[in-house]
Amino acid sequence: MEYINLGKSEIKVSKIGIGTWQASGDAWGQDVLDEKIIEAIKRSYELGVNLVDTAEIYGNGHSETVVGKALKEIGREKMIVATKVAGAHLRHDELIKSAENSMKRLGINYIDLYQIHWPDPWEQIPLRETMKAMEELYVQGKIRAIGVSNFAVRDLEEARSYLSKADIVSNQVRYNMLQREIEEEVMPYCRKNNITIIAWSPLAQGALTGKYNAENVPRDRIRSGNEIFKPENLMQIEPLLNVLKEIAKKNYKTISQVALNWVISHEGVIAIPGAKTPEQAEDNAGAVGWRLSNEELRLIEKELSKIDIDYM
Ligand SMILES: NC(=O)c1ccc[n+]([C@@H]2O[C@H](COP(=O)([O-])OP(=O)(O)OC[C@H]3O[C@@H](n4cnc5c(N)ncnc54)[C@H](OP(=O)(O)O)[C@@H]3O)[C@@H](O)[C@H]2O)c1
Repeated sequence: MEYINLGKSEIKVSKIGIGTWQASGDAWGQDVLDEKIIEAIKRSYELGVNLVDTAEIYGNGHSETVVGKALKEIGREKMIVATKVAGAHLRHDELIKSAENSMKRLGINYIDLYQIHWPDPWEQIPLRETMKAMEELYVQGKIRAIGVSNFAVRDLEEARSYLSKADIVSNQVRYNMLQREIEEEVMPYCRKNNITIIAWSPLAQGALTGKYNAENVPRDRIRSGNEIFKPENLMQIEPLLNVLKEIAKKNYKTISQVALNWVISHEGVIAIPGAKTPEQAEDNAGAVGWRLSNEELRLIEKELSKIDIDYM
């Protein structure tokens, strides 16, 4: 496994973590089983993955409860636990209460990385108030590091200006081969300021695993709203998947491992693929310890330049 420090903190995380939005009942499909997700987290740990990501909103707390069960078996101290406060709970008192409730569900008495899931969409709550609450938790030792998610550069700048005792260590944002909007502003800003990028949907919700095509589309609630899974778009990415398959074969890897390796080969970027089973978790953990060659990166780039999908 490969590890990096979260931002300027002393916290060392594996470059591949495990995301647990999947533990939200059947939103991700009828095949989701809590026991399998617990097994997936345990297998990840055995393979050197130490970062587990959840959120109060995933399954209305259910994901945190599932993660809590896995932590009990693995040992809390062995994992870096990242969770998030929803964008609807950013008032000072609500945020503090959210953190307490998350800790209860997770069965822990401190959170390693507490993240603001998304900025207040209505811009009603002063960001200063939210960041003061985050810093309070930090000073009290209830959280070890402050993170954000889905923050643009202007949000990051403002949020950081309200902190005096800590800095933001990470920004969790969408990033995969097909969805690269952060490359323009967010990525350079984060690199310059030593803020780790935690890539969500690094497999484009499964579109970059090679198992879906225009005739075989996932039918669950979450992905039914994802543009990528429209048959015409899956047809568009087929040539890319063929190239990834060739590269995977040459390197004795899987298509998913190639897609994840592409993500984490970017400086300061780590990935948190979601897994439903220990087999998926094991596959994903194998995305580290090697690098795509320049020639392979060029081939991928060539295919990507032919794809034009409007993600809205
Ligand atoms: N901060 C945010 O706003 C935000 C937003 C979204 C996600 N996240 C976090 O990021 C994590 C990952 O993102 P994501 O879940 O949206 O997408 P993802 O990691 O790109 O895709 C996950 C899905 O891909 C399939 N999969 C995973 N590994 C596989 C493998 N090795 N082989 C074959 N299929 C595999 C599984 O679904 P199937 O088997 O059903 O295909 C799994 O549910 C989430 O769990 C969550 O923790 C955060």
